[in-house]
Amino acid sequence: MTTSGDKPWSGRFRSPTAPEADLYTASLPFDRRLYAQDIRGSVAHTRMLARQGIIGAGEAAAIEEGLHQIEEEIEAGTFPWRLELEDVHMNIEARLVEKIGPVGGKLPTGRSRNDQVALDMHLYLAEETRVIDERLCGLQAALLGQARANPGAILPGYTHLQRAQPVALAHHLLAYFFMLQRDRERLADARRRIEMVPLGAGALAGSSFALDPDSVARDLGFGRRYANSIDAVADRDFVVETLAACALIAVHLSRLGEELVLWSSSEFAFLEMADAYTTGSSMMPQKKNPVIGELMRAKAGRVTGALVTLLTVLKGLPLAYNSDLQEDKEATFDALDTVKASLAIATAAITTSSFNATRMRQAVATGYLEATDVADYLAARGVPFRKAHLATGRAVALAASRGVGLKSLPLDDLRELHPAFDAGVYALLTPEAALTRRASPMGTGPEEIRRQLDLAETLLAASPGTVDWVAVSQSPLPARPPR
Ligand code: ARG
Repeated sequence: MTTSGDKPWSGRFRSPTAPEADLYTASLPFDRRLYAQDIRGSVAHTRMLARQGIIGAGEAAAIEEGLHQIEEEIEAGTFPWRLELEDVHMNIEARLVEKIGPVGGKLPTGRSRNDQVALDMHLYLAEETRVIDERLCGLQAALLGQARANPGAILPGYTHLQRAQPVALAHHLLAYFFMLQRDRERLADARRRIEMVPLGAGALAGSSFALDPDSVARDLGFGRRYANSIDAVADRDFVVETLAACALIAVHLSRLGEELVLWSSSEFAFLEMADAYTTGSSMMPQKKNPVIGELMRAKAGRVTGALVTLLTVLKGLPLAYNSDLQEDKEATFDALDTVKASLAIATAAITTSSFNATRMRQAVATGYLEATDVADYLAARGVPFRKAHLATGRAVALAASRGVGLKSLPLDDLRELHPAFDAGVYALLTPEAALTRRASPMGTGPEEIRRQLDLAETLLAASPGTVDWVAVSQSPLPARPPR
């Protein structure tokens, strides 16, 4: 890259820009990656100019051909990037004139870099959100695969990170599946506003040429344009919305990452991550570190940071275009790259982890996880739940003082705590019984898990937002009694 030479807007200037001003203001080092979107947008603009009779058909063909050659040069790595031309837009435009002569100078007719760069970001985010959706599906499929591959696995469900009640492993993994489904829907919703064309807004006020932005919108497959040219160039809400969806994805991945870290520790040992997705220690030979889970956890910081960056750039910004908007790019690129990489590696890490049903079962066996069932049992026998809770708590304390499980307490001792106890209570004291009894909607009972697995399968096969799964997953509510 060089830092000298004439700029397309140099007409009213008497001296060149300072090299450090070029360096400070240039976006080329990071907006180069928008070249494909920039060229797609330029081709659509050129075709529209020709359709409207603003430029000749032959001129449009020459411009289009020149743009295709430029795309090839960029992909071959032979394109002569010039930093003093500020950004990807002016680099491509200047090269076009070099290649096809003065007719190349007709490309920017009726167009400003303000509507051009906005269009580039719309095109870019439309593509990237599709990739992210695919990767969300990939992770969902990995979770679903592990849920199906470990049908009988039961582990403690936790609240306050204390063992609470037994749950099916499938139930726990499906919780992440449905969390990711909401992420897919948020992105699909954001895409409704990503897929809008700002081109035709010009610098901010529209154009004195008879442009046809609707046909550009059709050509680009978006089908919609902005209603207002000032809004079209000033808007970055679609970027904020995408980053908000990405920040939440990153937060979800951090929760999953934390569970990979916890569950692969010797203290839990509920799963073992594959060697290929763990690393060792330079000093301690025995170590096998869940670094992927740790980094999934940490990267939520930079994605959330990107969202805050964009919100801060927009805050207090007067209409319409301001150079501040150039600061949307690095944060956005970094956030999208990070989320894509995290989703891909999380998918591999989940797919290749092996769950240890024996260890999970051991964890279920201690900690009195059946206590709620015992209290429910007393309540079902007519004891008010609060009293049942108290009596069961006393049973737990008694068992704990003897260092045994609830099932080792003789019936006489139980009846002393509450006369409603009978021998039937012992049948409750297995994890399987606890699961089977939780047959309520959303619960961890085997029937309900089968239903959730089927629903997950249906959602994976459908486009996000097309299945109203909240409604589908609900049993019909009983009719309200008349007042
Ligand atoms: N590099 C600029 C950006 O990313 C392109 C638009 C510049 N427009 C201008 N009038 N200087 O936002």
